Amino acid sequence: MVTSYYLKYHRVASTKEIAILDAGCGTGFQTLALARANPGSRVIGIDLSEKSIELARARLQYHNCQDVEFRVLNILDLPQLGLEFDYINCDEVLYLFPDPAVGLQALKSVLKPNGIIRANLHSALQRADLYRAQAAFRLIGLFDQNPEDTEVAAVQTMMKSLPRWVNVKERTWRSQLEQAEATESMKSNQIVVDTAAEKCVFSPRPPYCSYSNFRITVLD
Ligand SMILES: C[S@@+](CC[C@H](N)C(=O)[O-])C[C@H]1O[C@@H](n2cnc3c(N)ncnc32)[C@H](O)[C@@H]1O
Repeated sequence: MVTSYYLKYHRVASTKEIAILDAGCGTGFQTLALARANPGSRVIGIDLSEKSIELARARLQYHNCQDVEFRVLNILDLPQLGLEFDYINCDEVLYLFPDPAVGLQALKSVLKPNGIIRANLHSALQRADLYRAQAAFRLIGLFDQNPEDTEVAAVQTMMKSLPRWVNVKERTWRSQLEQAEATESMKSNQIVVDTAAEKCVFSPRPPYCSYSNFRITVLD
């Protein structure tokens, strides 16, 4: 938060008594970093997924960050919290919205006047190879139902067995994805498609800015 305020307003902001939102916090990896980097602040993490929120609570408890609050909540329902935030982190989430601007507007509706939103989008052009790989696995039926561990393991086996110069492997695969613990990462943001999000992932999309973070204070 301090760095963003410094870049935007050229002043060192205090982290005391400010409200920070981690929107679409998942399992709380970044919520933990936000809480640690901003002592004295009120940090709230929200996510659609009950399971993720459960894991986020456990993560923060494990790291002795008892003060962070978590809620199962849709970003679109943020006004229900009745709070406004000085800083909103929304990482790897807006690209999941059929229209990311709708998600952004919902974030803006709970942002304080001088608040800052830190978010990112994906570039359809940059991810073209990933989409092609997803389409190939979809053709052979791996994504007919919501992919679970079996489907992830099948993708891992196939990718592992391909020679490294095969285009799809060369452009979309990393050896870390062959590890058993890569399952969640593959399902959330990699080569395996959550069929619930499929419409969003496969629909033609404008070339959103590539992986870059952006900060917004005013959004009309
Ligand atoms: C790729 S994960 C990113 C998690 C986390 N921000 C991170 O960077 O580690 C996307 C997360 O956004 C959540 N999500 C997607 N749409 C959402 C929405 N409309 N409201 C709240 N959470 C949402 C998903 O449940 C998932 O946990």
